[in-house]
Amino acid sequence: MNIFVPIILVGVLLVIALILIIIDKALGGGGEKMILINDEKVIPVTSDDSLLNILSSHKIFIPSACGGKATCGFCKFQLIEGGGEIKPTELPFLSQKEKEEGIRLSCQVKVRDNMKIAIPKELLNAKEYKTRVSHIEDLTYDIKLVRFELINPTEMHFKPGQYAQIKVPGIDVIRAYSIASHPKYNNQIELIIRQVPNGQATTFVHKALEVGDKIILTGPYGDFYLQEDSDREMICIAGGSGKAPIRSILYYLRDQGMPRKVKYFFGAKSKRDLYYTEEFEQLSKEFPNFEYIPALSEPKPEDNWTGEVGLITDVVDRNTKDLSEAEAYLCGSPGMINACIKVLNRHQVKQENVFYDSFS
Ligand SMILES: Cc1cc2nc3c(=O)[nH]c(=O)nc-3n(C[C@H](O)[C@H](O)[C@H](O)COP(=O)(O)OP(=O)(O)OC[C@H]3O[C@@H](n4cnc5c(N)ncnc54)[C@H](O)[C@@H]3O)c2cc1C
Ligand code: FES
Repeated sequence: MNIFVPIILVGVLLVIALILIIIDKALGGGGEKMILINDEKVIPVTSDDSLLNILSSHKIFIPSACGGKATCGFCKFQLIEGGGEIKPTELPFLSQKEKEEGIRLSCQVKVRDNMKIAIPKELLNAKEYKTRVSHIEDLTYDIKLVRFELINPTEMHFKPGQYAQIKVPGIDVIRAYSIASHPKYNNQIELIIRQVPNGQATTFVHKALEVGDKIILTGPYGDFYLQEDSDREMICIAGGSGKAPIRSILYYLRDQGMPRKVKYFFGAKSKRDLYYTEEFEQLSKEFPNFEYIPALSEPKPEDNWTGEVGLITDVVDRNTKDLSEAEAYLCGSPGMINACIKVLNRHQVKQENVFYDSFS
């Protein structure tokens, strides 16, 4: 063989490698880039991974219920400079106003050049927690209470109503769960988790999770929380596991001596779907300001149910008067929330006084 052939081959490979490096540089890859956050914090970046992953590796935890697959729409941030154009995968989650404001999905934006971004200040408080499961309890046939003891860090400071995310070990699944426990016990977190048939996280929790297991949580997250500086009358509506954040809110109000008038509607199908009934009935005995109204949409004859019957929307409708001065806190499926908002609107609730977490 001609001795020049290997030399020519090596030369060609070197030229190709050089061209690739130049293209990479032109696209902003390779070298160090900077992310400027909220005009105050700078993160140096060498990889061109997604912004979501890069922030997470710098201990900034953006909510991400789908683990970066562009199916949850949770991981929003505001892009001020750099970052490229909106991808088709982001479009379903962005309103026209959000697009105009530069809102993007952090899991879909690759860090290929210097970027200037803004994220809500509260997100800088979200941390990753090593926890140990200390208690698991069946609340109904398909709902479990799970208590996590925080090992490192040992305290999570959250507002009543906020949520945490659980990382399912072994599979790349992250899911959001509202914190059901009292905010004053900040060395433990309780979650109320309903089994979704074939659901990845809930099947793990219901079928495999055991006391003593080590689990990673992140949080706290969310803008659904008690408006502590308000003294408005409150109407709370929840279904299924939506009881979790309302429980945390009510614990907090109980410690304050229940200073606000609260009407709490809880919708379930039949009696076997009710839980914590005694706890809330006891609260209503202690505080005349608090009224608990559980309602069954399909009570069974053996339930001997004498309480409210019907869809929660109808029950709210017939038990509510003028809400123009009230605050509403809603938790449950997107369908339930949308239907409830329609009813509340008929009772003159002001849009700015409606707070909800949609368990989508
Ligand atoms: C802010 C927030 C707070 C939440 N808090 C709670 C909470 O306190 N308790 C709780 O139990 N859940 C809560 N959820 C829902 C939770 O995050 C998961 O979506 C849910 O547990 C399903 O996860 P999975 O991995 O088991 O199901 P997946 O594997 O994600 O889903 C499996 C299938 O079930 C469908 N599905 C997903 N969720 C539901 C549902 N809720 N009902 C019916 N079908 C569904 C999916 O479309 C999919 O087809 C909350 C969600 C959000 C966004
Ligand atoms: S993490 Fe779910 S859409 Fe980005």
